[in-house]
Amino acid sequence: MSSLLFSPLKIRDVVFRNRVFVSPMCQYSAKDGLPNAWHLVHLGSRAVGGAGLVMVEASAVCPDGRISDGDTGIWNDDQKEAFKPIVQFLKSHGSVPGIQLAHAGRKAATEGQAIAPSAVAFSAKYSVPKAMTESDMDQLVAQFARAVERSRDAGFELIEIHMAHGYLLHEFLSPLSNQRTDHYGGSLENRMRLPLRVAQSVRELWPKTLPVFVRISASDWVANAWDLEQSLIFARELKMKDIDLIDCSSGGSSPDAQIPEGPAYQVPFAAAIRKETGVRTGAVGKITDAVQAEEILRSGKADVIFIGRESLRHPYWPLHAARTLGADSVWPRQYLRAPITE
Ligand SMILES: Cc1cc2nc3c(=O)[nH]c(=O)nc-3n(C[C@H](O)[C@H](O)[C@H](O)COP(=O)(O)O)c2cc1C
Repeated sequence: MSSLLFSPLKIRDVVFRNRVFVSPMCQYSAKDGLPNAWHLVHLGSRAVGGAGLVMVEASAVCPDGRISDGDTGIWNDDQKEAFKPIVQFLKSHGSVPGIQLAHAGRKAATEGQAIAPSAVAFSAKYSVPKAMTESDMDQLVAQFARAVERSRDAGFELIEIHMAHGYLLHEFLSPLSNQRTDHYGGSLENRMRLPLRVAQSVRELWPKTLPVFVRISASDWVANAWDLEQSLIFARELKMKDIDLIDCSSGGSSPDAQIPEGPAYQVPFAAAIRKETGVRTGAVGKITDAVQAEEILRSGKADVIFIGRESLRHPYWPLHAARTLGADSVWPRQYLRAPITE
């Protein structure tokens, strides 16, 4: 039986050579938001390693949206130019180049005061953020819009909006961080308002031929907070905004979260959202084995597999996984004298 993990997947006009996607991972190695030789080698190795998609780490839409000074950013033209050769390299080795657009909200490491839905700190170790005004929200939507244009001009073929891990848009969704009493807080409809506005604006600006993904935390892992039930409603709304895939992560909004981390522990979220809403999903989290990844797809629990830390350990994971699953593994021509024969 041929492998599903190594079957091509088409979303809009973009064809992924397989369904192994490199999860976005901060490298804390940029200066002034500029990607550099590290990013070229790090991301490039994973394209050489055969991934269908290589997603650039959470890249800030404005300087104050960075979670560390070492984050990449896409808020100015120098950053756009610096991304171009990296994007080109990923494409030339057969990977779709994607970028995760982010604002870290109350988790941001900024010199000034961080912004958030409400003036509630993440933990005692963080300072109290400023509650956003409506004009701050308008500014955020505009910053995402400009980041979308620069990502397009840099040559990216896919955008993922970061709405997980306690970043700003997740902070609006979760009642732990959103304690507003205006029409951006309180009811689920109100808490979803800004994230959906950003999703709609990004989708409208991004070329129709290219996909937009959203990463969510499907649960805060805290009682009476954000959970799967609300994620299902949110996923339906995102689907109606023509979002192409929900990348299902979890946690990040509370230091008190009780996360039952184990192999493939977030897969049930991807499975439920896919089944209940019909939107494509990505599974992520402690997926390390080719047979396990194949089974997740075959059983209809997700459409694609995001590999994080295992891809740091083994940048050529897809090439080896293809062999395990009896699929063709396309080694770069430069390495053709080193085939694995047994
Ligand atoms: C070094 C590192 C950096 C990360 N940075 C990001 C990030 O920029 N954006 C994001 O959504 N998740 C980030 N994550 C989470 C991963 O994308 C992934 O969801 C998580 O590691 C679970 O998958 P895994 O078990 O395959 O590693 C990061 C994880 C690691 C280990």
